[in-house]
Amino acid sequence: MSTTPASAPKLRLRDVSKSFVAPRTGVRTQAVASVNLDIQTGEFVCVVGPSGCGKSTVLNLIAGLDTATSGTVEKDGVAIAGPGPDRGVMFQDYALMPWQSVADNVGFGLRHGTPGKGFTVAQREERIRHFVELVGLNGSEKKYPHQLSGGMRQRVALARLLANGPDVLLMDEPLGALDAQTRLILQVELLRIWGETAPQAERKTAVFITHDIEEAVFLADRVVVMSSHPGRIRDVLDIDLPRPRDEHIRAHPRYGQLVDAIWNLIRDEAYRAIGGSTTAAAPAVAA
Ligand SMILES: Nc1ncnc2c1ncn2[C@@H]1O[C@H](COP(=O)(O)OP(=O)(O)OP(=O)(O)O)[C@@H](O)[C@H]1O
Ligand SMILES: [Mg+2]
Repeated sequence: MSTTPASAPKLRLRDVSKSFVAPRTGVRTQAVASVNLDIQTGEFVCVVGPSGCGKSTVLNLIAGLDTATSGTVEKDGVAIAGPGPDRGVMFQDYALMPWQSVADNVGFGLRHGTPGKGFTVAQREERIRHFVELVGLNGSEKKYPHQLSGGMRQRVALARLLANGPDVLLMDEPLGALDAQTRLILQVELLRIWGETAPQAERKTAVFITHDIEEAVFLADRVVVMSSHPGRIRDVLDIDLPRPRDEHIRAHPRYGQLVDAIWNLIRDEAYRAIGGSTTAAAPAVAA
């Protein structure tokens, strides 16, 4: 198999392990071990697994915010050496600058970082306007984050991510803080913005972490199921549901089967993580 950059997948993790050493005690935690994963251009990959299984660790390694203890993490066949505007990162907590307006938050990278190089001032402003509109925030450009709902703040974070022109979107539970209805609406919008109706080669490559199995099945081309202690890939499921998807896909018989299959893979560990047991009988209630 050729490994030249031209034929390389968009992202490749090979035998990746990461351990953290506590500075005071010297105690070593093996966060992830022997992770192997190829992600192709235009794929939407969701990562699920119990709390502490290393999902964020994997995302941070791809983002270049952390380095692997062993193994390689590559993008387009080139080792990732640090963060870059080609990989946009989005977290649960929005990470907006509260003293800046919607437009200024969206345009921050364009105005102050490398993504804006090569643009005239007018082109930058046009790009900011375009992405504000794409996420449905036109009319709110001059508002400040405290004047926005959680869903609107996360739209700002998404517009800011996209304005920098990344080809890889790295999202760590980006919808986790939102109420259930807003979450469902943003899932559909995220697929539209990712490029669901575009040919695969024109889509962004997305890695999306979630605790929500239904969200993972709704969004993904593939779902990576991780297990913990140490974090490993337990299974990777192809989500063979048709696209474009909207809320009706949840009625598709295959949707329920996939949700069940993933829940079966992580149920025991999920129960253990909260101190419960899948097999325990209900405790007797004292009279
Ligand atoms: N900077 C760090 N220093 C020490 N240990 C860490 C650090 N980051 C993560 N860990 C440990 O590595 C393991 C994996 O953590 P990680 O945050 O990747 O899990 P996760 O799957 O994202 O969990 P959650 O679902 O709760 O977000 C955990 O045991 C965690 O305590
Ligand atoms: Mg995490």
